[in-house]
Formats: sequence, C-alpha cells, structure tokens
Amino acid sequence: MDRTCKPPGANPTWVCEVPLDGTLAVRTSPPGRSAFPSGDDRREGETIMKPRVFVSRMIPQEGLDIVLAACDAEVNADDRHLSQAELIDKVKGKEGLLCLLTDDINDAILGASPQLKVVANVAVGYDNIDVQAATRGKIIVTNTPGVLDDTTADFTWCLLVASARRLVEADRYLRAGKYTGWGIMLLCGEDIFGKTIGICGLGRIGRGVAKRARGFEMRILYTDAVRAPTEVERELGAQFVDKETLFREADFVTLHIPLLPQTHRYVSTKELMLMKKTAHLVNASRGPVVDETALVQALRERRIAGAGLDVYEHEPDMASGLVELDNVTLAPHIASASVDTRMKMAVMAATNLVEALQGRRPPNIVNPDVLS
Ligand code: GLV
Repeated sequence: MDRTCKPPGANPTWVCEVPLDGTLAVRTSPPGRSAFPSGDDRREGETIMKPRVFVSRMIPQEGLDIVLAACDAEVNADDRHLSQAELIDKVKGKEGLLCLLTDDINDAILGASPQLKVVANVAVGYDNIDVQAATRGKIIVTNTPGVLDDTTADFTWCLLVASARRLVEADRYLRAGKYTGWGIMLLCGEDIFGKTIGICGLGRIGRGVAKRARGFEMRILYTDAVRAPTEVERELGAQFVDKETLFREADFVTLHIPLLPQTHRYVSTKELMLMKKTAHLVNASRGPVVDETALVQALRERRIAGAGLDVYEHEPDMASGLVELDNVTLAPHIASASVDTRMKMAVMAATNLVEALQGRRPPNIVNPDVLS
C-alpha cells in the first residue's frame, strides 16, 4: 500500500504519522489554531482547538481536503474495515466521525465519545447507523443523497441488461475457450425492449431507472409504500400496482427500497414463486431486502431466469451456492462507483461533517429532531 501522504492543495502544513498498527494519523497543522477562524470571533493570540475527528477509511482526496482543512483529523488510511473495538478506540475523544457504509455504528461506538456531535456517512443509505441511539445522544447523523442517483440507476441497468442477455456468462464461456463456432441457440437470453419492468420503490433512484426504461419502450409498473404524485406517474409513464401484481406481471423486477425492519426480506420464496419463469430480479439497494437462500434455490431450480445482484445479505459473504450459479450476475456493491460520484459523495459527507461541527445545520441531516 502506498502510504505516501501529500499535503492537500498548496497548503503543506500538515503532517502524517504512520503508527505500527497501520492506522494513519493525519494531523492538520498548526494544531491549536481555530478550525473555523471567522475573523470576528477570533481575538489576537486566542487559541481555539480544531474539532477532533476520525475518518474511518480512506475517501477521495477532494473530501479529505475539506476535513483536513477544518479539523484535527485522524484517518484510517489502510483501506481496511476496522473492527468494533478499533472503531471504539478511535472514536474516543472525537467530536466528529466520518464513516462508510461498512461501519456498523451502534450504541457502543456512539457512546465511545461523550463529545461526539456528528456522524457523517459517505452513503445515501444509513441502515449501518443506529439513528435512534444517535438521536437519543443528540448526535447528528448525515448521509449523501442525490449525487449518486443517476450512477446507481445506470448500474441497475448494467445488471438488468447483463442478466437478460447473459453477458457475464458469455464472457466466461469465451474465456474458457468454449466458443468453437456460432450457434443459433447459443446463449440466448431474454428481450428487454417492449417488456414490463416492475420497480419496487419509486424514489429518486427508482425514478431514474424508470426514465431509462422509457428508452426501451417498456411498460413500467411500480409499487411503493406511498403512491407517487400523478404528475410523476404521468411523466414517467409509470403505473402504480400492488406488490403481488408487480411480481406476477413484470419481466424484470428491480429493487430500490431502503432497508428497514419492514423491508427485511421483502423478496422471499413467496415473491419468487409469483415471478415468471422468464423473469429476472435486480437488486442494487441493500442485500437483506432479499432472502438470499430462497433466491439461490429459485435460481438453481430455474423458477426464475436470472438475477443481477450488487448487494448481499451478509456482505462481503454470499449465500452458499450463489457463486456456482451461471444465471446470476454478481457485483461487489459498486452501483455508485464512478470516479465522479464517489468524489461528490466524499465532498458531501465532509461538508456535512464540517457544517455540523461549525454549529450550522448540515445540508443532509437525517435526524433533524436532534436540533430541536
Ligand atoms: C450505497 O450503497 C449507498 O447507500 O450510498
């Protein structure tokens, strides 16, 4: 791993230490100066400490620069998921935590620092954070909505097309040297154009998926806990149906729902049994909304034609048997992974962190109750 540290921008005033435990401590300098020297508030010779924060894992430099400019930051530069004990240890004495969706931010971590004011998640989903516990502790929680919608909708389509047209299977076939000549039934998949797509969750990402489906002249069905406004339905040409109708009628079912207690295993044997034998399931939301063992069984028994998955019930593990199946396209949770989008997410999370530490309302607060 490259542990070289470069000062952000033209301000070479911070130093890095690489302790033996592999955690890179990046300390902004000079320590003891205000993180937010607002002129009016600062008197000659006055020393105001920068807020101490922990960044749980490397993020794109553009986001890190914002944190380093405003905070006394410690950064885990080892691109490694930290254990609970390590996180607790690192959060001690910190006012801010910038974390990723792989960090399970529970009561113990939230309680590790009585000074903790904000947890800024670099993700739109925040099911990795015990928001209720944070709110009880008056800790602000923020996320990164909006900036990843189109990238995620694009990737949903990557999975859908790859699954329908057996693209990854075809690639494997070719690389294995099995292509000995054209065949009329070789690797035939399902058409997409003119078929029916069923979108579970017509939020920002679901709408992006629907917009793209119009280009394929698809019939668009959706289901959601709350029906979308008529103008949205009209604009997208999307028809609201109940969950059962959607699973029965769609050729492609795609999931864009948050992980909540009521959406846990939203797709299980019952839903898979409703689907057409030629249908495909796409999941780029959260793994636990699908009963993965039931899905493996449905795919194995060809009760549905295929699936495209970006997320898993127990990431990074996968249900037994999943990787052996050739009718599933698998991706390692990369739906929002474009260079631009990941940069925007990091900048947004860093801005949320700094705004909250400055005593302002961060733009993307998920538990506004803490401010009242
Ligand atoms: C990605 O999965 C996110 O929630 O941002």
